[in-house]
Amino acid sequence: MLIDPRDTGLDPLDLHALFGNSNPVVLEIGSGSGRFLITSAEERPDRNFLGVEKSLHYHRFIGDRLARRKLTNVRLINHDAVLVMQKMLADRSIDELHIYFPDPWPRPRYHKRRIIRPESLLEMRRVLADDGIGVFVTDHAVYFKKAAPLIEEFFRAERRTPGPDDPPRTNYEAKYREEGRPIFEVRFRK
Ligand SMILES: C[S@@+](CC[C@H](N)C(=O)[O-])C[C@H]1O[C@@H](n2cnc3c(N)ncnc32)[C@H](O)[C@@H]1O
Repeated sequence: MLIDPRDTGLDPLDLHALFGNSNPVVLEIGSGSGRFLITSAEERPDRNFLGVEKSLHYHRFIGDRLARRKLTNVRLINHDAVLVMQKMLADRSIDELHIYFPDPWPRPRYHKRRIIRPESLLEMRRVLADDGIGVFVTDHAVYFKKAAPLIEEFFRAERRTPGPDDPPRTNYEAKYREEGRPIFEVRFRK
């Protein structure tokens, strides 16, 4: 089901009503073409998946893929993820948070647009359940150097590098690993 808050409003979401059950909720920020959402939703039918993707093109693209697969445990929101967290998600409502290859915004004047910044980390910590976990992955060494210590300020965190036996989770990860680029990851816990 596709949600456009420009039509429905940025009102607090009742996740139980939205999914029709009280299963744990996995939030992905910046779902791109939806590989993580779709693969995970198929593998873990006992979880609900909420994808927030600000590009309308990708939002519709994932929507088509979901409809073809008749997946019922995924919902998509087409908006900026920080606003969605601030306005639509309740405290401790999310069990897992995944962020794969977010735009690195390399120019200093655009660093304020990065998803890993104090304002959004505050929201991530608020919406995560008490034992909630998160994953942040990037190929951008300079972004990682700034982002990892920031995540560590807000969460208990562990840095790691995906190994050759870890399957790529998203299309960007598949492409970059094929190209041999180093991949940097932080796993964190509230
Ligand atoms: C580089 S792509 C990575 C896509 C996917 N995660 C992957 O690894 O293949 C980054 C995605 O995040 C989305 N995005 C960037 N900032 C966002 C934000 N603040 N809220 C929601 N989506 C965002 C972009 O539209 C884009 O689809």
